[in-house]
Parts: sequence; C-alpha cells; structure tokens
Amino acid sequence: MVRLGSDGTVTVLSSVISTQIAAHAPYGGVVPEIAARAHVESIDGVIGEAMTRAAVGFEDLTGVAATAGPGLVGGVMVGLSAGKAIALARGLPLVAVNHLEGHAVSARLSEDIAYPFLLLLVSGGHCQLLEVGGIGACRRLGSTIDDAAGEAFDKIAKTLGLPYPGGPALEKLAEGGDGARFPLPRALLGRDGCDFSFSGLKTAAARLAEGLTAERESFEQDRRDLADAVQSAIARQLSERTDRAMAQYAREHDGRDLRFVVAGGVAANATVRRVLTATAAARGFSFFAPSMAYCTDNAAMIALAGAERLRAGLQDGLDAPARPRWPLDEAAALANPTHAFGRKGAKA
Ligand code: KG4
Ligand code: ZN
Repeated sequence: MVRLGSDGTVTVLSSVISTQIAAHAPYGGVVPEIAARAHVESIDGVIGEAMTRAAVGFEDLTGVAATAGPGLVGGVMVGLSAGKAIALARGLPLVAVNHLEGHAVSARLSEDIAYPFLLLLVSGGHCQLLEVGGIGACRRLGSTIDDAAGEAFDKIAKTLGLPYPGGPALEKLAEGGDGARFPLPRALLGRDGCDFSFSGLKTAAARLAEGLTAERESFEQDRRDLADAVQSAIARQLSERTDRAMAQYAREHDGRDLRFVVAGGVAANATVRRVLTATAAARGFSFFAPSMAYCTDNAAMIALAGAERLRAGLQDGLDAPARPRWPLDEAAALANPTHAFGRKGAKA
C-alpha cells in the first residue's frame, strides 16, 4: 500500500510478501500449478494484512493496482481478479500494471528520481536496458538474446548444488572465493549494441562445476572460487553492456541529466551494485538502486506504478486481460524479438 502525495512524495504504508519458495524448493524451480494454487490460498490473507499494517480501511483507498503480466498466468489471474473485485465493490478505478513497470519505478519508492533515466532491469525473467521517459514511456536499448541474468545465477547455482533461488545462495558461497583461477567466456565482448547473452557462461560454468570432485581436500574452496568467478563474470557483462548503453544515452541527451537506475532481483547483489556504481561514475551518471527490500518482487512497486498511472489519468477497464507476455516497449519487441519470442509474441 502506497500513498503518492500531491507534491510527489511517496510513502510506503505497507508491503506484505507471501513467499512460496518452500513449496517449489523440492522441484528446484517454480512449478506453475503449485504457484497458481498458492496464490489462491494466500491472496485474501495478504490483502487483509496489507490493510491492517497500513491501518487503512477500504473507504480510504483511491484506487486499486494489480499486476496484469507478464508472467505465469495462473498467479497473475488470481491477483488481477482480486483487484477487480475490490475495484468493482468499492467503485474504485483499477490500474492493470505491467510487472516490469513496477521494477522500473521501484527505486522511486525510497528516493525522488526524476524522469528520464537509463534503466538496467535485471531479474529472474528479464535482462534489459531501457530508457524510461516517464510512466508508460519506455524505449528498449538492449535485451538478452537467451537467458536472463537471474536465470543464469539460478541455473549455475543449481549445478553447484545450491538451493533455489540460486542468486542469493551463490552470492553467499562466493564470499571468500577467488575467481581468478577460473577463466570464463566473455560473451558479445566488443559487439555493437547493448544486448546480453549468458548461455555460453552457463555451459562453461556447468562444465567446471562437474569437474570439481568432492574427494579433493580443496573441494569447498574450489566451489567458493567458482562461485566468485561466475558472479564476477555476470557483473562484468552487465557493466560492459551498460557502459555501451550509457555512451549512447549520453549522446542522445547531450550529456545532460544523466541518471542510471539498476532494478530487479539481481540488483540486490553487492558485487553487481559495486561494479555498476563504478561504471556509472566513469560515464558521469548518477547511480540509483532500490533499497534491498524493493529489488526482488514486491507489491509496493506495483502500487506506486499504479498511483503514477492514475495521476497521469490512466486507468483500465474491469475487462483488462491477464497477459503472459507483455513487453514494456512493444514496438521494439516486435521489431527485434531478441528474447524468447514464442508463438504468441515476445514475452517481454
Ligand atoms: O525481480 P525478482 O524477484 O523476480 C523476477 O521478476 O524475476 O528476481 C528474482 C531473481 C532470481 O533469479 C534470483 O536468483 C535473483 O533475482 N536474485 C539475486 C540475488 N537476489 C535475488 N541474484 C544475485 N544475487 C542476489 N543477491
Ligand atoms: Zn520481478
């Protein structure tokens, strides 16, 4: 629950997270049927708790925001239907929010960051560079041609025997590791444009992980070193491609008002933040990232995107569909479907 003041101040009144990680953990990843059922079982309780913690009643609300995609459609439908029910029952405007737009505004939950800014969105499902000109005005500069950065963390972590989600577990394992002894491929190095690729790194890291033998005395240190090598390689690629996007963005903006935001689950990674902070400084960009709690998925960022949309006079009908695929920059996704272009169009 978020309050957006008339002067633009943002107050997070409550942010309740119901995690399903334990239910999916035995399967090493998210199982769609389990996800949909868990949403049904927890949605009422989560809404109730959000209201209680914010100390507001339904009569205090001015609008309802619900994620309408992209993502596993079973869970999306549950949240969107609950949002529609409240909007209908209380006569409130509904805003159907793109999950990625939520990540795009997430850093604005704790800091007043003016538009436009250059955004690196790095999560489990997405890895994109976007120019964010304002709410509903995103232009894609680059995207992954295979895996997302968080997906690479998760898959490589699995080959190292770590639990899901792999990103935080791998970061922990990398503490005290020295990755220098494991050379990993540098995808797309020197290639024009701002696209990403992590599949070569994933294959190379999996091969190295298989080569580590538990019998060796140095096994634990070997794992730590490999984890550090993987984390550094991902951070390095994010930095190299962001650096290109920054150069382009600075040219297009005549070197003025250069702001950079990194958001999404992978933005919680300390090495990624550190490397990108340096990249931004070298290019003359000011650096922003959401506070830790708002890097990974949360409802506050969806509420803020909804509030900003309402303020801009944008709202949706009660027939708003749940969308498994929903690119932020639809024109770019159609013209150049770099990531997971399925039968029904670009995922994101
Ligand atoms: O934004 P998010 O919560 O969900 C999506 O929209 O995908 O991102 C989740 C992703 C997972 O892949 C997870 O492993 C990764 O973010 N992640 C991290 C860290 N915390 C979460 N990756 C690296 N280091 C972390 N500390
Ligand atoms: Zn997300």
